[in-house]
Amino acid sequence: MTTPKDSAEKALEVERFFGTEILFGAAGPEAAQKRPMTLEDVRAWVDDCKKCRLHEGRTNIVFGEGSPSARLVFVGEGPGADEDREGRPFIGRAGKMLTRIIENVLNLTREDVYIANIVKCRPPGNRNPQADECAMCMPYLTAQLEVIRPEVIVTLGSVATHNLLNTKTPIGRLRGTFHQWGNTRLMPTYHTAYLLRNPAEKRKVYDDMLMVKDALGL
Ligand code: URA
Repeated sequence: MTTPKDSAEKALEVERFFGTEILFGAAGPEAAQKRPMTLEDVRAWVDDCKKCRLHEGRTNIVFGEGSPSARLVFVGEGPGADEDREGRPFIGRAGKMLTRIIENVLNLTREDVYIANIVKCRPPGNRNPQADECAMCMPYLTAQLEVIRPEVIVTLGSVATHNLLNTKTPIGRLRGTFHQWGNTRLMPTYHTAYLLRNPAEKRKVYDDMLMVKDALGL
């Protein structure tokens, strides 16, 4: 049986196929409105998602946060324990390092940028999200990026980079140059969790962020 949520989801997929100008809200096609899609619409679409096994262990969906008109979006891999508890991305140790990069290297605040993940629910034991879990969750991130339309995306680590660039090339070979996600420039760099274990690599991330800063004219 088709539920209102199913038909809203289908409507959103159809709209995304034709462009993002019109969205049927999560309440269903009967609530159709001619207006641009918002992050709230995408949030409502994600609500109570059970498309993959990750929903079983989650405390909170970690949707993403920041400016809906951010020029710069960071994409991580998936929530850890702190993020799952609070429902907010990058608030643990790796997140604190990301905040320092945003503030001290880019001279921005977390409120200026947008921070999201490939998967919205915490993988058990902080394992990497599996390919099918990433695939199930990708339409949500794609919709977020289509609403925000940033000038630059920074992918943090292999999972985010491989999923957005659709490649398996090692992150060490991809970082340090801009790639394209559609018409948007994308800079892959190391994940801050990796930097916590390999502090000598911070220098490379610093260099990558200087390129981002330059691309944004900051
Ligand atoms: N690592 C991630 O990839 N995302 C988070 O939100 C936190 C840690």
